[in-house]
Amino acid sequence: MSQSDTIVWLNGRFLPLAEASISPLDRGFLFADAVYEVIPVYAKRPFLFKEHIARLTRSLHEIRMKMPMPVDEWANIISTLIDKNKIDDGMIYLQVSRGADVIRNHAVPFALSPTIFLMASALAPLDSATLQTGVSALTLADHRWARCDIKSTSLLPNILAKSTAASEQALEAILLADGMLREGSSSSVLIARSGTLLAPPYGPEILPGTTRDLCLRLANELDIAVTIAPITEHMLRQADEIMLCFATRGVLPVTRLDGKPIGAGTPGPLWQRLYAALAAYRQRVATEPFNT
Ligand code: PDD
Repeated sequence: MSQSDTIVWLNGRFLPLAEASISPLDRGFLFADAVYEVIPVYAKRPFLFKEHIARLTRSLHEIRMKMPMPVDEWANIISTLIDKNKIDDGMIYLQVSRGADVIRNHAVPFALSPTIFLMASALAPLDSATLQTGVSALTLADHRWARCDIKSTSLLPNILAKSTAASEQALEAILLADGMLREGSSSSVLIARSGTLLAPPYGPEILPGTTRDLCLRLANELDIAVTIAPITEHMLRQADEIMLCFATRGVLPVTRLDGKPIGAGTPGPLWQRLYAALAAYRQRVATEPFNT
């Protein structure tokens, strides 16, 4: 489908992308006063729908907004968008802003109608060469705010970090602060050390990741030891394996960090097991209702 055929959903209506418009006084535009979700789609179905809606509810609550529609309505809109845009594998982007005011006003006004936007896009599968070689990442200082647990559209430090990584031919920027691993600019980071999978604890400095949570659950099923503990920069650099977890790409092996090989410099055994388990899990849930 070309972009001109894309059907989106904006404030209660399905309409062509070219006809979708919002006010320049929308607080999402003026202040990034908005939260969002990216939900993967596999075989025409949203994946981890409930988990994404739960995180959206939490993000809204943290910015003092209410869930603007019931879960069933989100589910119906998402199914219809997948259908109308003929998406097999791809993603749903959804964003809720506080809405358009009549003036620019920092203080949060009462009783605005939120602006709700959803779109569906196809995602080409990763080429097998990338999976065979793994990806490169660059470490950078984390310049973000102190509430990265909220999935806010205020992503300026993230996009600058990602762009710096891209300019060095790296797929992801891995963010560090005070000598500790935080997360990727758009991904959660796991490391493997002596057969154990390590993940940094949740807190205000990182986003609770739906893909990371599932990977850790699958690791438990596979009897892979999991430790939730702070990860130092030294541990990151000395890791046997580094993995990125995100809705758009599942779990990816990082085989080069700042130009140096990680472990053997090839995708490691724990990544291979998790990657296979994730694919099997997608198959397993493919026939279950996604929204109950
Ligand atoms: N990003 N941390 C950050 C900062 C992220 O932006 C993301 C996801 C994650 C992983 O969360 P999940 O596994 O639920 O996707 C962690 C999405 C993909 C994005 O912004 O496009």
